[in-house]
Amino acid sequence: MSTIAELAAAFERIGNPVVQTWFHQQSSTACHCIIDPATHHCALIDSVLDFDYAAGHTHTQFADRIITFIKAEGLKLDWLLETHAHADHLSAAPYIKQQLGGRIGIGEHIKDVQKVFGDVFHDDSIPRDGRPFDKLFIDGETFAIGELRARVMHTPGHTPACVAYVVGEDAFVGDTLFMPDYGTARCDFPGGNAHTLYHSVQRLYSLPPQTRLHLCHDYMPGGRAAQWVCTVQEQREGNVQLNARTTEDEFVAFRKQRDAQLDMPALIVPSVQVNIRAGEMPPAEDNGVSYLKVPINVL
Ligand SMILES: [Fe+2]
Repeated sequence: MSTIAELAAAFERIGNPVVQTWFHQQSSTACHCIIDPATHHCALIDSVLDFDYAAGHTHTQFADRIITFIKAEGLKLDWLLETHAHADHLSAAPYIKQQLGGRIGIGEHIKDVQKVFGDVFHDDSIPRDGRPFDKLFIDGETFAIGELRARVMHTPGHTPACVAYVVGEDAFVGDTLFMPDYGTARCDFPGGNAHTLYHSVQRLYSLPPQTRLHLCHDYMPGGRAAQWVCTVQEQREGNVQLNARTTEDEFVAFRKQRDAQLDMPALIVPSVQVNIRAGEMPPAEDNGVSYLKVPINVL
């Protein structure tokens, strides 16, 4: 029996996807594949390209594992979705698209992120109009993954362009929330806002309590094993930073104080430049080599 058949048997409710997840250890990123068990169409969320920053070298071991799975299961990749422009890893979406097809999609407010970081990097080659993403989703828009319907929910705060993808009773929520024992995303990147994140999380908490939230990261507090799925109810009851009892003022005060103590992610400089280009490297210079910039004393 194939992996999909086994997974489909484990998912009892009609209209819900089968979800296969890979965990990228270096960036603590959970990459999810949403699979329609009826048609074997699928969508990949937040893929990761391996990157050795010291050497300036990209590698594809992680992406190749995903490609091997999709080919072995006979799946048709419709979408390469991003929940936001990540600051901690490079997207593998263009590499996987080249191998398997599919369209790269993100929230329409990526245009705002391109403007902010286009200025930070003082780089006219960074588009400001949403290119080269294939699809910019607006809040509430729906789209198909085979016979499954996915709905886009704009969830800004961590970044202006963050979205969650809701499919049946599964929601793929990016960095808005981490596991209940770890909390919420930082809000101190350019364009971030703790008030805005509070209201985005309230939108997620208004989903049915049994909704499974699939997270983008897990940092394994206390040395426990990595986890990336929990329910709305579990978050509302137990999120250590933002649960059903937390007021907006309490959350914002906490988030500002915590964010002031955090270091920048190790890969923010390369990640943002690549990810706001939908995972593509900057245009090669006349020697055929692509270069990334480092803004001094800016971030
Ligand atoms: Fe993020």
